Amino acid sequence: MEFKLLGTDLQSQARAGLITTDHGQIETPIFMPVGTVGSVKGVLHRELENDIKAQIILGNTYHLYLRPGLDVLKQAGGLHKFASWNRPILTDSGGYQVFSLADMRKLTAQGASFRSHIDGSAHLFTPESVMDIQRVIGADIVMAFDECPPGDADYDYAKKSLDLTERWLDRCVQRFDSTEPHYGYSQTLFPIIQGCVYSDLRKRAAENVQKYNRDGYAIGGLSVGEPAEVMYQMVEVVNGILPKDKPRYLMGVGTPENILESIALGVDMFDCVMPTRNGRNGMLFTSEGIINIRNKKWQNDFSPIDPFGPTFVDSRYTKAYLRHLFIAKEMLGPQIASIHNLGFYLWLVKEARRHILEGDFLAWKNEMVKKVSRRL
Ligand code: GUN
Repeated sequence: MEFKLLGTDLQSQARAGLITTDHGQIETPIFMPVGTVGSVKGVLHRELENDIKAQIILGNTYHLYLRPGLDVLKQAGGLHKFASWNRPILTDSGGYQVFSLADMRKLTAQGASFRSHIDGSAHLFTPESVMDIQRVIGADIVMAFDECPPGDADYDYAKKSLDLTERWLDRCVQRFDSTEPHYGYSQTLFPIIQGCVYSDLRKRAAENVQKYNRDGYAIGGLSVGEPAEVMYQMVEVVNGILPKDKPRYLMGVGTPENILESIALGVDMFDCVMPTRNGRNGMLFTSEGIINIRNKKWQNDFSPIDPFGPTFVDSRYTKAYLRHLFIAKEMLGPQIASIHNLGFYLWLVKEARRHILEGDFLAWKNEMVKKVSRRL
């Protein structure tokens, strides 16, 4: 994997860059739609490619390991072939899901043992097994196995957890570097920086990961209940230490406002379930603000969903029609909302990139933040 920095904003830390993988290029800053089990819920690949213009999607180790399982993925020739997705894929390591989804999880120095949320079967994830699983899935970008502590973790817990994540990272790197890709294209491993809301732990973590000299670094353990201002402080501390010539990925973030503010702090990559999960519940993100399409006020509004929106659904369907679909519980409602929201997120980061390269990012960002966070 290669990363070229193409431009840096003079009034903020925002950057525009280009990542090159064996499955194609990614223009940064980028938003990565979440395709947990190898599908971005309710959205066709054709729509992801042609309408939403997704450049990379996420998969999840925990989910894919449990279903369809490694035998099927191996036989298929990896997730790209299995899912018929020819662009880059990043897989999260499953650490986060083991702690949020699995039952009876138990942490040991060796790894995390847990029971499947699907059938209760017992499993053990270790840093080594999680690297091996991601080799089988065949993601272009593989994430380290980490512990993501709860947002209200005290200092003592946060420090012990970071100690564990750092020991696990060492084992991840050893295993990853002593194994080969299965499918002929290259894979790269990103470490994850933890440390909760404690600046000294975040600093230590950001310094520690650099000894592995990887192609990119992720910031985890944020947007887990702490105030947005605290999240931005942590991002600022970490980005002040990370090398300028490597992409930075802020995991699981966030609202359009969070993304714009984090781009200004020098973040290059984002993922979040919000545009799809909230979309399925009728929440639409637009350049004019946030819409709850189930609201009665849209019942007779025959204007387009988003007259300035980038996808075909924005101009083809009216608010009244989309509201009707949601109230009638038609599956087309969540589908249209997901396409709209993902199209908007991809448009937003593309605009940010253009303004960074044109030199007026900060003024544009400040105006945009006011608009996107309004409730319509
Ligand atoms: N997704 C959102 N936050 C995190 C995190 O801290 N770790 C991992 N592995 N995934 C995440």
